[in-house]
Amino acid sequence: MKLLVTHIGTIAGIVPADRERLAGAEMDRLGRIDDAWLTAEEGRITGFGPRAGQPAADGYTVVDAAGGMLFPSFCDSHTHLVYAGSREQEFLDKIHGLSYEEIARRGGGILNSADRLHDATEEELYAAAMERIREIARKGTGAVEIKSGYGLSTEDELKMLRVIRRIRRTVPLEVRATFLGAHAVARNYLGRQGAYVDLVCEEMLPAVAAEGLADFVDVFCDRGFFTLEETRRILRRGRELGMRAKIHANELDYSGGVQLGVEEGALSVDHLERSGEAEIAALRGSRTMPTLLPGAAFFLGIDYPPARRMIREGLAVALASDYNPGSSPSGDMRMVMALAATQLRMTPTEALHAATLNGAAALGISRDFGSIAVGKVANFFLTRPIPSPEFFTYAYTTPLITRTFLRGEEWNGEPKG
Ligand code: NIG
Ligand code: FE
Repeated sequence: MKLLVTHIGTIAGIVPADRERLAGAEMDRLGRIDDAWLTAEEGRITGFGPRAGQPAADGYTVVDAAGGMLFPSFCDSHTHLVYAGSREQEFLDKIHGLSYEEIARRGGGILNSADRLHDATEEELYAAAMERIREIARKGTGAVEIKSGYGLSTEDELKMLRVIRRIRRTVPLEVRATFLGAHAVARNYLGRQGAYVDLVCEEMLPAVAAEGLADFVDVFCDRGFFTLEETRRILRRGRELGMRAKIHANELDYSGGVQLGVEEGALSVDHLERSGEAEIAALRGSRTMPTLLPGAAFFLGIDYPPARRMIREGLAVALASDYNPGSSPSGDMRMVMALAATQLRMTPTEALHAATLNGAAALGISRDFGSIAVGKVANFFLTRPIPSPEFFTYAYTTPLITRTFLRGEEWNGEPKG
């Protein structure tokens, strides 16, 4: 199909395809064209520009943007959106004063989700996850990473990853899968953490690799979860089996996880609520993407990561939703951008780049996704007419998105087959 979008008030988020990420001061420079058109063919952007150069409509399916804006789709590089049930009881526990760690120590938290996932069929998990996928697609997400980590046994981790594979095959979003067997120590291994790490390295990782089910390997490296030594061992085993590293690091403590991630060549280190000079120094000059999840800090009521300082020191920063039933029951990237603006003091332009191109870089897909550029996959959404690109982040609960296009076609939420 050949697509021509006309009457675009502003195309925002134009970044040339050879820019893998934006860092430091360049994060705040918005590439834009006003009064514009855009074309796509076979799922890729073939051209765009100001109205004067608009091609004749012959042979195109024409979409009239009616003066609204066009933004690149979000690349949400960190979610746990395959899960069973919900955890609003823990939400109440938190309101009544328990911390995330206290809930986990009582056998709630991740273990609670693992019990429910164990009892759910692949079909049920797929159906529940697809509801979430349709919701995030409507809200502007075009690429998404999904983690395992509510299985915590070989069989259930494989079950989760097969659900992610099925989603990947049936939706036009770009999907990446991450194995997170080391999310928590399984109930039947409590008190035997070393044996659980052995299981992750010697049984789960080889089984996942044998079926080619994961692109990345992740570990919850933090106080009360997995140690630096355990994390290093798991990441190295994953690498041997062809999986790039990601880490949940420095959410609960100055754990050393950021430095470890950089040393191990992790694609990203995520959370970073507890980051200071040492963490920022480690990230400087590395290709590891610091990925901030303000939705989780908001929901848990913990400190926010020092985004302003990271950007001032020249780092690139990505934003992701952390969509999961315990610490961030929302995959709304506009909400994430609004939190980045109000709580992290990122500008709307910085937040947009962090949620699109830098999110794509955190998945290793920024050559094809994350900005408006000729040759990139045509993932974008249109808004109704708005006064400025900043308005999109400012009016953060107004339903401004009118239509979303994935691979150059409007997606109505139907599975591909
Ligand atoms: O990213 N921090 C660890 N894991 C998730 C929470 C998972 C859960 O509570 O179910 C997170 O916040
Ligand atoms: Fe997470």
